Amino acid sequence: MLRTIGLMSGTSLDGVDAAYVETDGERIGRLGPSLTLPYDPALRRDLRALLERADSLSPDDPVLREIEARITKRHAEAVAAIGLEADLIGFHGQTILHRPRRPGQVGPPRTWQIGDAAWLARATGITVAYDFRSADVAAGGQGAPLVPVFHAALCQPVPKPVVILNLGGVANVTYVGLDGALIAFDTGPANGPLDDWARRAAGEDYDRDGRLALAGQADGAVLARLLAHPYLAAPPPKSLDRLEFGRAIAESGAGALSPEDGAATLVAFCACAVAAAARHFPEPPLQWLVAGGGRRNPALMRALSGALEAPVRPVEVAGWNGDALEAQAFGFLAARVARKLPLTFPGTTGAPAPLPGGRLVGALL
Ligand SMILES: Nc1ncnc2c1ncn2[C@@H]1O[C@H](COP(=O)(O)OP(=O)(O)O)[C@@H](O)[C@H]1O
Ligand SMILES: [Mg+2]
Repeated sequence: MLRTIGLMSGTSLDGVDAAYVETDGERIGRLGPSLTLPYDPALRRDLRALLERADSLSPDDPVLREIEARITKRHAEAVAAIGLEADLIGFHGQTILHRPRRPGQVGPPRTWQIGDAAWLARATGITVAYDFRSADVAAGGQGAPLVPVFHAALCQPVPKPVVILNLGGVANVTYVGLDGALIAFDTGPANGPLDDWARRAAGEDYDRDGRLALAGQADGAVLARLLAHPYLAAPPPKSLDRLEFGRAIAESGAGALSPEDGAATLVAFCACAVAAAARHFPEPPLQWLVAGGGRRNPALMRALSGALEAPVRPVEVAGWNGDALEAQAFGFLAARVARKLPLTFPGTTGAPAPLPGGRLVGALL
């Protein structure tokens, strides 16, 4: 078994998650400590601005390089804060642009994560696995989601079929069938648009405990316009950019709603998009296990329970830590990179065949 530290900085731009995992990339040994180091408000703001102009950025843009250095430094602090010796770091980096293959798309598919892996390896003295997505995208896959193979390993003792639903900036599902079949994709928006709404409508980083949404009513007409978005009906494989629904939301008339009704409408949008995803599973799941920050939003959990047939429960019922799952996945995936095991599969990213990926950098190589 390798002693790994997984690092994930998700689309919510809230900070970096770190988790210690002992694994050979197939079995999960010890799941050790985990933590989140938040990004300071200036870094969040600078990152958000970077995301918005990622399309026209050159890789050696000085502002980009400077933000990348700040992010990487925060990751090194997270490794230090874990405080355990490790053989390998799994460093996802921060996605600033995700434009995988789509029907009708012009231009080559692209996915872009920033983060200086060589610097992190030097700063920590630990070998770093990174660049998890680009081999898959180059082979025609979506480059996302990457966590399903970890979910499948975790799910071994759980009755199937089961779905793990991660509510980050966007929402993604992993369906694990009775026969071990793995189907995974992004379902639609989750916290990303909700956070943006809370910031604009109420000056808050996010709708804490769903207070706004719980005090409002979803607007049927706006919701119907949002649910007509072609992404929802498209069959998997499919994956999303953080900003994907920005225009649809702006054009939906949501802007005219009260802070409360707008939040309730976006919550309903997320829940209905998840319900639409259930159509793509071969059999109905026995339960939905929910990870990610969105499981702390009671409005979202209530809307999901209303929209889905099987029980909706936080992953803690299975004994897992819903704040650490994504970071743990990148420790697990780092071990798979080191062992050249596949990271992506036809059922998860649409890769033509099970596909290894990722690169390694470090003093030990
Ligand atoms: N108490 C809470 N009430 C409502 N939303 C919450 C709460 N705690 C966390 N969140 C949401 O979770 C988000 C962070 O989720 P996270 O799983 O870290 O996403 P990502 O993987 O994209 O970084 C926050 O931006 C916020 O929207
Ligand atoms: Mg996060």
